[in-house]
Amino acid sequence: MSVELAAPEPKTSRWTRRHLLGLEELNRSELETILDRAEEFVEVSQRRRKKLTNLKGKVVVNLFFEASTRTRTSFGLAAKRLSADTIDFTTGGSSLSKGESFIDTAKNIEAMGIDGIVVRHSVPGAPHLLAQHLQCSIINAGDGAHEHPTQGLLDIFTIRRIKGRLEGLTVGLVGDIAHSRVARSNIHGLLKLGAKVIVCGPPTLVPQSITRLGVEVSFRLNDILPRCDVINMLRIQFERQRNGLFPSVHEYAHLFGMDSDRLKLAKPDILLLAPGPMPAAAE
Ligand code: CP
Repeated sequence: MSVELAAPEPKTSRWTRRHLLGLEELNRSELETILDRAEEFVEVSQRRRKKLTNLKGKVVVNLFFEASTRTRTSFGLAAKRLSADTIDFTTGGSSLSKGESFIDTAKNIEAMGIDGIVVRHSVPGAPHLLAQHLQCSIINAGDGAHEHPTQGLLDIFTIRRIKGRLEGLTVGLVGDIAHSRVARSNIHGLLKLGAKVIVCGPPTLVPQSITRLGVEVSFRLNDILPRCDVINMLRIQFERQRNGLFPSVHEYAHLFGMDSDRLKLAKPDILLLAPGPMPAAAE
């Protein structure tokens, strides 16, 4: 027998948007509303029975035009835990192969009585286009090199949980800043919540224009490590790069990789975030 419970009532109700398209458009209060609400769900995720009824009767579609493991799986799991009906759309075998456009595909899916679409696409702005043409809620699960708001929120949530605050922290984002949607979402969210952000990587992977967002730029990880409370190691986005943006993976790892020797330069309580398991020496 399954026991379904209602989620805790939100302590705050400052969320009035239909869509979640990026962290750039959110203000501090909206960001804090999401983080506080996520905090209320931590207790739920630690229960033996995690099934809630918040989305009972709703239908959520995962519409992914790019590969994904973590985002697709976690959105699917979250929707199921909240009792939504879920549909996984895959491009292979769909009418896209017969020439149907992106918008027509999404409109056809919406016409089946869909309440929310979680979309990942290689083109920046694709979720915004859907939000203009559809009535249902759109959640951006990553659009090209533009934004990945839910990954940004998860990183920020993790930092706030472990460090106890965001205000006054110095966060280093290290790696392929030029092609990273995770970097952009982190930057928008962290700056609005009072953190300082330093972006660091080889000059070919750190565009000068990024300073317009209000971040400091460094090309030397060893120089910024002693100043950082948090380091977020970003993946190299080989699939979005032209060739030759750095001489070799070996040289990149030498200058920007994390290991036990380099860690000696960091504050003793530094928090390291990474997209996958860290090498044992740097854990
Ligand atoms: N973090 C992230 O976007 O991972 P996936 O590409 O596996 O979804």
